[in-house]
Amino acid sequence: MEREVKILEFIDLKAQQKRIRDKIEEAIKRVLDHGRYIMGPEVEELEKVLARYVNVKYALTCSSGTDALLLSLMALNIGRGDAVITTPFTFVATAEVISLLGAVPVFVDIDEDTFNMDVGLLPVCYEQAEHKGLRPKCIIPVDIFGLPCEYERIKEFSKEKGLLVVEDAAQSFGAQYNQIRACALGDIGCTSFFPAKPLGCYGDGGAVFTEDDYLIEILKSLRVHGQGRDKYENIRIGLNGRMDTVQAAILLEKIRIFDQEMELRQVVARRYVDLISEYAPEIKTQKVPEGLRSSWAQFTVKFPSRELREKAQRALKENGVPTAVYYPVPLHLQKAFAYLGYKRGDLPVAEETCLKVLSLPMHPYLSEEEQVRVVKLLGDILKKSL
Ligand SMILES: Cc1ncc(COP(=O)(O)O)c(C=O)c1O
Repeated sequence: MEREVKILEFIDLKAQQKRIRDKIEEAIKRVLDHGRYIMGPEVEELEKVLARYVNVKYALTCSSGTDALLLSLMALNIGRGDAVITTPFTFVATAEVISLLGAVPVFVDIDEDTFNMDVGLLPVCYEQAEHKGLRPKCIIPVDIFGLPCEYERIKEFSKEKGLLVVEDAAQSFGAQYNQIRACALGDIGCTSFFPAKPLGCYGDGGAVFTEDDYLIEILKSLRVHGQGRDKYENIRIGLNGRMDTVQAAILLEKIRIFDQEMELRQVVARRYVDLISEYAPEIKTQKVPEGLRSSWAQFTVKFPSRELREKAQRALKENGVPTAVYYPVPLHLQKAFAYLGYKRGDLPVAEETCLKVLSLPMHPYLSEEEQVRVVKLLGDILKKSL
């Protein structure tokens, strides 16, 4: 007889929607009624709410997290001959935008405990860039899985070298670094509202954050085809990078419950850490340094070996527990970046991490019972294998 297994959700968007479905329907209806689908009043309202939340002067919504990064680099005049230092352990968009603008990504290896860029290696990377005849201009730290990078040290280094810092906070909206909110930690902060992100809309969306009066004007212009006084005066090359009014209306409803969801994420993450140390202590969880709060976009663990990771992923799947590997290949070894000339072994920690990590189901509505089930399964697999 077939055994019945209850399938868990990797990210349960349905539970959240059920909570606020009527509010979302009303918000969408308001947009349908006023009919200002492009740059309607909800867009400006959301920008005010976002800026207040992050505690920066300006928030500019846009069409995706990728466009948030692209607009930021364009506003900072990054282009041919420039080097941008970033991590290889990230989603492709982080480095893709650098290449799109004709600049060169220079990858820095990661820390084995936090999975974020290893700040101690920044000087070596800077020298590598200079050695290649490039002008190092910018650093893009990525707050991986929602955990802010070591901004104090990054800023110290960037100040010393005159570099700009663009925070890729696509995964970390809602996180904190010593009381400062993610998106406010660089010269510009970028986030994504992709549905699976901690604050997600029902399509693509993103935002750029800055304190800078000059940059915000450039960013606004770039978002609408490099417009001058209006859309038909074009003073620079730009994009169509606006957020749809419907998505802004949805986000305005979702952000009302965001703080509560962020608290729930902390509870779920703490429970995972405790359960793993009890039932599967061979597995390492992402280290959160003192004073930091992750937004726990993903809960990612590291196995002692690739074989164990694969065994665990298979067994979890058979038992109705979906998992994902973020990221299976570091960017410096992706075909798209082969032209940069990196080879296996150049960034050993990132390479090893890609072979051993696994992201477990993570969302604010994950129950204790579900988490116990996941971790006990992990414990059983390890016991049988070690
Ligand atoms: C680290 C990182 N940067 C950039 C992006 C791009 O965001 P979007 O998918 O909204 O374009 C993502 C999203 O997946 C991401 O995780």
